[in-house]
Amino acid sequence: MEQDASGGIYRSRLGPVSSEATRYVSSIREDAWIFNEDIECTVAHDLMLMKQGYITEEQLKQILEALKRLREEGLSQLDLEKYEDVHELIESYVVKQAGMEVGGLVHTARSRNDQVVTAVRLKTRREVLSIMGELLKLEATLLKKAGETLDVVFPFYTHLQQAQVAPLSHYFLGYFDVFLRDFNRLSESFKRVNQNPLGSVAIVGSSLKIDRSLTTRLLGFDGVVENSFDAVSSRDFALEVVSNLNILMLNLSRIMEDLIIWLSSEYGFFTLPDELAFPSSAMPHKKNPCILELTRARTGRVFSSLAQLSMVCKAVPSGYVRDLQETKPPLIEAIETSREAVRIVRIVLENLKENRERIRSLTEPNIIALDVAERIVEEARVPFRLAHRLVGEIVKLSVKTGRKMNSLNEEDLKSVSLNVLGRDVSGLLMKILKEADASAVASKRVSLGAGSPEADKMMLADRENVLKECFSKLSLMLQKDTEARMLLENAVSRLVKGFSFSTVEKCP
Ligand code: ARG
Repeated sequence: MEQDASGGIYRSRLGPVSSEATRYVSSIREDAWIFNEDIECTVAHDLMLMKQGYITEEQLKQILEALKRLREEGLSQLDLEKYEDVHELIESYVVKQAGMEVGGLVHTARSRNDQVVTAVRLKTRREVLSIMGELLKLEATLLKKAGETLDVVFPFYTHLQQAQVAPLSHYFLGYFDVFLRDFNRLSESFKRVNQNPLGSVAIVGSSLKIDRSLTTRLLGFDGVVENSFDAVSSRDFALEVVSNLNILMLNLSRIMEDLIIWLSSEYGFFTLPDELAFPSSAMPHKKNPCILELTRARTGRVFSSLAQLSMVCKAVPSGYVRDLQETKPPLIEAIETSREAVRIVRIVLENLKENRERIRSLTEPNIIALDVAERIVEEARVPFRLAHRLVGEIVKLSVKTGRKMNSLNEEDLKSVSLNVLGRDVSGLLMKILKEADASAVASKRVSLGAGSPEADKMMLADRENVLKECFSKLSLMLQKDTEARMLLENAVSRLVKGFSFSTVEKCP
């Protein structure tokens, strides 16, 4: 064991601890993530303690002065070695600055158990709001792309084989809906994230007369996690957020996969600007979609964060256990990875150019087959299975003779028709095939949500309204966070000038 053991403010019963042991248990590196929030929660708690008569105004002033100085200094490299966590660091700092008589009051009716989970919930709420903001910017880009591509007839694929044509806008509108669900999932879980556990103390609350509803208001929480035992033990809010981010990343990875394929030399449906592409060190001609590949791969990071978090939460005894400290790194990883991914995907989409000529030339003529079969059903009331067989025979003939379906002659169609239906509908087939070019078949679709220019136009108009509503919803949520900051800041600035929660961002 190393000999440089030292005592900390918590070690009332225990002798000094070895620095190796401290390094092992310390969460201080990941705690940089909640440094500001933990100070904010401390301020709110101490304001409440003053109101409840446990701290005098003068004592509070000294505590706030110390916290202000700590915010300005930020975490230093030295601190990282000395403390178990940011909570010990903050309290030790206040004790050192204001003396034990005053600094020693800070932790009244509080435990690190409720402290950590309060700071994590507060930080998570802000991070969720910021990801929701990035998602809405991505949504706006998808709608812009949809508006620009209503007239681009695009091959849609099943099994990576050309299936049917529809306007390219249909693709972008589809992903708008996908990410709208991601946005709504985050917004739903936000309600459960934004609940205040502070005041639960170590596990079953306090005999001191604290006011949990005051800290709830000061910190902008929507309510309290009422049961103190639940409040300090549960991390399902984090599981919920990371699960939602996992789904979000899985969705992003699908769009990445599509684009990687469509950016390949063989497809060439789209082009990326040089600013967003990467070269090869050896092959001078390369233009690699590395951003897209990394986004696809980083889906794994978020999924493993979810796995990591799940394993920490699985079968831990209820009540705080140190295992719960390990919930922070995967939560941070999932949040940071997904926010960056959403941002960069939006930038990629904004700058993606579709190559209309290339799309047209690679669209297979037989891609209209199902639409032709449906025309036959509609116009001749032939059972669909027979129409399928009829068109199948026509495709076979077209492949065999190397002629497009709509350049087959009436004789060919007559014999196919007699073979399959036992009657001659070649006249009707000629008419249907003549009308069936790729853009015409898309315009004929009438089912709800179908890929046709008309349906897409309507969907686009509707989604523009939906997006506006989402922006207003998010701005109200952000406003609530800002108002809480202001409320706290105003309460503090009556005692200490220049204390700011929003301007100092000095974490390593
Ligand atoms: N560093 C700890 C964490 O991140 C803080 C809570 C410690 N509580 C305790 N009883 N040891 O979870």
